[in-house]
Amino acid sequence: MANLATSLVVLWISLISYAYNVHATRMAHWPRGSSTRFYDFKIQTLKIIKLCNTKELVTVNGIFPGPVIYAQEDDRIIVKITNETPYNTTIHWHGVRQRLSCWFDGPSYITQCPIQAGQTFTYEFTLVNQKGTFFWHAHVSWLRATLYGAFVVYPKPGVPYPFKYPYQEHILLLGEYWNKDVVQLERATVASGGNPPITDAYTINGHPGPNYNCSNNDVYKIDVVPGKTYLLRLINAGLNSENFFAIANHKLTIVEADAEYTKPFTTDRVMLGPGQTINVLVTANQPIGKYSMAMGPYSSAKGAAFQNISAIAHFQYIGAVTNSVSLPAQLPSFSDNLAVKTVMDGLKSLNTVNVPKEIDANLFITIGLNVQKCQSKTPNQNCQGLNNGVMAASMNNISFIKPQISLLEAYYKKMNGSFTEDFPGVPLKFYDFVNGAPNNIPNDTQALNGTRVKVLEYGTRVQLILQDTGTVTTENHPIHLHGYSFYVVGYGTGNYNPQTANFNLVDPPYMNTIGVPAGGWAAIRFLADNPGVWFMHCHLDIHQSWGLGTSFIVKNGEGVLETLPHPPADLPRC
Ligand code: C2O
Repeated sequence: MANLATSLVVLWISLISYAYNVHATRMAHWPRGSSTRFYDFKIQTLKIIKLCNTKELVTVNGIFPGPVIYAQEDDRIIVKITNETPYNTTIHWHGVRQRLSCWFDGPSYITQCPIQAGQTFTYEFTLVNQKGTFFWHAHVSWLRATLYGAFVVYPKPGVPYPFKYPYQEHILLLGEYWNKDVVQLERATVASGGNPPITDAYTINGHPGPNYNCSNNDVYKIDVVPGKTYLLRLINAGLNSENFFAIANHKLTIVEADAEYTKPFTTDRVMLGPGQTINVLVTANQPIGKYSMAMGPYSSAKGAAFQNISAIAHFQYIGAVTNSVSLPAQLPSFSDNLAVKTVMDGLKSLNTVNVPKEIDANLFITIGLNVQKCQSKTPNQNCQGLNNGVMAASMNNISFIKPQISLLEAYYKKMNGSFTEDFPGVPLKFYDFVNGAPNNIPNDTQALNGTRVKVLEYGTRVQLILQDTGTVTTENHPIHLHGYSFYVVGYGTGNYNPQTANFNLVDPPYMNTIGVPAGGWAAIRFLADNPGVWFMHCHLDIHQSWGLGTSFIVKNGEGVLETLPHPPADLPRC
């Protein structure tokens, strides 16, 4: 009897472990999380006086920047959103890979329709194998300008950082502040056909600092103890500009980029495009004093206007004279491409990584601006772009038009007519991308319009070459992919040439947003093993408004752990 029971138990255990092993190669279980954290987000307008200007901005729970979400690796996150503003909105959890939870990713008209005034929607997802510095932001129009906050995920209990434990840590959200209503601003800019106005101020944790009008007391400050080491979580939540960051007389040691550890790399400054996060260690090893932390522009587009006043925060030693002037930080010049390259060259994954070596889908996508012919009867109002045209932007010379209902719903429910599956894997025409014009006719800068997506089978090993074009001007574009991190295996200047390109397949950084060099290219690789519809776009919002994006549909694989579940019952309707 005892023997029979034992052998039944053994049989039972081996059956269980057989079932377990079937899917154990990729993910052993449904991503349910260790603990669950619940957040209640009320999206509200908040009256604020900044730069001597009063306005109502959109934020969460009456604080600006919005509340920080804290969690641990593998936690389940539930955020109930109640929209108490008149604006349509959604929230995106930038950098979270949304394993089997594409419905909760947040980009408007890609994975969901916006949450309308007075409505609620609850986001639910698990931070599968993810830790580090993330952020959340609105993904509708330009609401992200004020509707953003940090999202910090700690390692599991008992798991140390791969560097000496810092004395303290601080979040530094870099932003751009606009005196005008940003939703109207986007509408007016797109309607004008021309370039957007520059931001009224750069901000650090919402504060412009003393270089700006009326902002002597609107300064963020970190008090530091001499000799101690601090972890700074830098997040670029800005809208339309890329930025340098530096601290006067202090070195920054990069230890994490886009929420993945890197080999420690020490530098005088970093550059972050919107959508990028970098963790740095800073040791307070200088004479007691007050030091500037500065955020200034990196503007690589030729002839583009930009805000040239730096935002300043203070890195202030305990014991420093409080009202002394702070020591100025040295920022590179706004056009210093080499400073950007130097930081990029220093980014390597902490450990050797598992980069796809064989490739199933070799894609080549150009990214850049266009000027469309003026079609308006009131060109003075609507065609203020270059050569009296309308500014646009594109991938593979197709300018992305957002659909009326979300792509994910249309795809899931097999509704016809809102998108086509013919986004080309290579440009429609090959030409000198950096120096030429897309239609082989000099000065023909026209792009096609469309909602074209690229379909990938589950498990496709993708290589993607992103190639900047000089159609209007070459420019560094921060290209962000939803639903995945990717290995940045190579990058360079000029047109991509497979014969001469140098790839790092050993320890490339694992990122979610890559600043493609101005007039250059970047090569990324990822395994398409997360089913859903995933937006890929330039994280400069004006470029997104102009159509610099496309989407990938990653099909379901076999079995429940490779299949996107059905939509949540409260998914907003359009
Ligand atoms: Cu940070 Cu599509 O977004």
